[in-house]
Amino acid sequence: MTTIAILGVGRVGSAVARTALRAGFDVHVAGSGAADDISLLTEIVIPGAVPMTTSDAVHDADIVIVAVPLHKHRSIDPAPLAGKVVVDAMNWWAPVDGESDESDHDAVKTSEVVARHFAGARLVKSLNHIGYHELEEHGAETGAPDRRALAVAGDDDAAARVVMAMIDRLGFDPVYSGPLHTGRNFGPGTRIFNSILTRDELEAALMSRELAA
Ligand SMILES: NC(=O)c1ccc[n+]([C@@H]2O[C@H](COP(=O)([O-])OP(=O)(O)OC[C@H]3O[C@@H](n4cnc5c(N)ncnc54)[C@H](OP(=O)(O)O)[C@@H]3O)[C@@H](O)[C@H]2O)c1
Repeated sequence: MTTIAILGVGRVGSAVARTALRAGFDVHVAGSGAADDISLLTEIVIPGAVPMTTSDAVHDADIVIVAVPLHKHRSIDPAPLAGKVVVDAMNWWAPVDGESDESDHDAVKTSEVVARHFAGARLVKSLNHIGYHELEEHGAETGAPDRRALAVAGDDDAAARVVMAMIDRLGFDPVYSGPLHTGRNFGPGTRIFNSILTRDELEAALMSRELAA
């Protein structure tokens, strides 16, 4: 049984958790505090998921999904994530993250900033270019016609493959875009961000000249 730990039980975290439970994954969830702080929420909103602290949630997880506001990612202790396959589902979003002058926020740099913080992790960018509600509404069986595709970027090929297998089980065609920095091609402000694309359409968009890394 594959175990997914989801850090951040907000809109994205809870939608991914429900989708993953339906797909047969074991799901651990963690908020910013104690497990008890999210136990009632988990019971009501994500029945079947197990609320834990971050370090307990990731301890025996095969995949960790980080779904907190980008400006809060540094509040997650990177130590327990070392060596783990970690999915960065975050985007810089001005209404939430503010108009930082750190220049950390543009689509080019967010993955690199996140990678620096989680330096020991096998970081993969994905799940960030689909609306949280669509995660639950747009999934389809493998091979379904016009199945929606989701992009995956990462420097660690084996980690990217693990995430692609998870994306498939969640109901979407995974498309590898290349190394982590190519995550810029499906971040906010790109043609791919929030677009509903099939595998062929996503591959074509990723290969188009204007998006080439
Ligand atoms: N909304 C979308 O459709 C969408 C789609 C794709 C990607 N994204 C990206 O996904 C990320 C999350 O978005 P969202 O809409 O789900 O945000 P949200 O609804 O505000 O939820 C964020 C959650 O993160 C938790 N959190 C904060 N610091 C934490 C920590 N150190 N450890 C664990 N949990 C922590 C918060 O809980 P506490 O009360 O414990 O702080 C909150 O429940 C953002 O970067 C966003 O850009 C959003």
